[in-house]
Amino acid sequence: MKDIIISESIKYIGVDDKEVNIFENQYTVPKGMSYNSYLVLDEKNVVIDTVEEKKGKEWLENLDCILDGKTIDYLIISHMEPDHSANILKLIERFPNIKLIGNTKTFSMLPQFYDIKDLNDKKIVVNEGDEISIGKHILKFFMAPMVHWPEVMVTYEKTEKVLFTADAFGRFGSLDSIDTKEEWASEARRYYFNICGKYGYQVQELLKKVSNLDINIICSLHGSILKDDLQFYINLYDKWSKYEPEEDGVFIAYASIHGNTEKVAKKLKSILEEKGEKVEISDLSNNIMSESVANAFKYGKIILASSSYNMGVFTPMEQFLNLLKGKNFQKRIIGIVENGTWAPSAANTIKTMLNQMKDINIIDPVVTVKTTLNEESREKLEQLAINILNINS
Ligand code: FEO
Repeated sequence: MKDIIISESIKYIGVDDKEVNIFENQYTVPKGMSYNSYLVLDEKNVVIDTVEEKKGKEWLENLDCILDGKTIDYLIISHMEPDHSANILKLIERFPNIKLIGNTKTFSMLPQFYDIKDLNDKKIVVNEGDEISIGKHILKFFMAPMVHWPEVMVTYEKTEKVLFTADAFGRFGSLDSIDTKEEWASEARRYYFNICGKYGYQVQELLKKVSNLDINIICSLHGSILKDDLQFYINLYDKWSKYEPEEDGVFIAYASIHGNTEKVAKKLKSILEEKGEKVEISDLSNNIMSESVANAFKYGKIILASSSYNMGVFTPMEQFLNLLKGKNFQKRIIGIVENGTWAPSAANTIKTMLNQMKDINIIDPVVTVKTTLNEESREKLEQLAINILNINS
């Protein structure tokens, strides 16, 4: 088991999955995934969340190793999603007298997933602000609906000032795969926008609730245990959940069938860079889509460059825009470049899709390329670069 030090009486008992390639059957995770779980030792011993199903045996071994024959009195169920709840039955089997702590919504979902005998005798329903004392430690509960499911709640341990945040402040990657704050931000941004991005308002509500707490440590259910400079992480969450851009610069996302649109996108990148702008570029057909989604939120100015296809827009761009819409994408400045050999149609479809999003400012000119750049389209590309640089985001 990993020797993760939280405190003398709060222990890490989670597991890494370094073999997993796709999380939740859709997000590529080149650095694997961690399923965090915690044990609070006191007069009453408390487990905070279980782990993903296939890692149950390893997790129970971690628990046994620290318990050394002691029992578990409570399981806090912060979130019912199976990556955290899958081993509830195993825990009950091992500790038949255990009580399950959740809220009303937790216990309405629980029977849909697991057949728990005598659930009414086992459950302890908590509401906003309720506290449970387990000895020296006091656990206080805050509801966090839709961060990321309706039943999510976070737990604040008052004595050691530890906030257990469920999915919030989570990231992709196994526990030891990330070292620096910048690496954390990269995988946490990708995790946040793809998994919780739609629920910025609800994340803001949670941040307000915990803003008056004195917090020493943040323990998420995925990735790093955060101990130092907590304001760095909280500030990022504040910015992300307000849908505010994080960095100056331009993000170019392109979808190219045979490479001609790619050449135009790269030409635009070099024009912008020659003018001193920071540019990040993504090939929507070949790069990790969830990373492109995260980059669209990272920057305030985006260029969408796409081939036309089926009288609309090339499939990877359509998929990208549908994902952005689903994540509540908003408050951005957008430039559009379309390509079409005989009947360019990408720009109209892109505009129609962007019109379904809030506070999107499309910058003139929309550049139409007929297969390859000519004098007219090259001039328009230059003009688009100038206009997008001159507008304030
Ligand atoms: Fe990590 Fe929403 O579950």
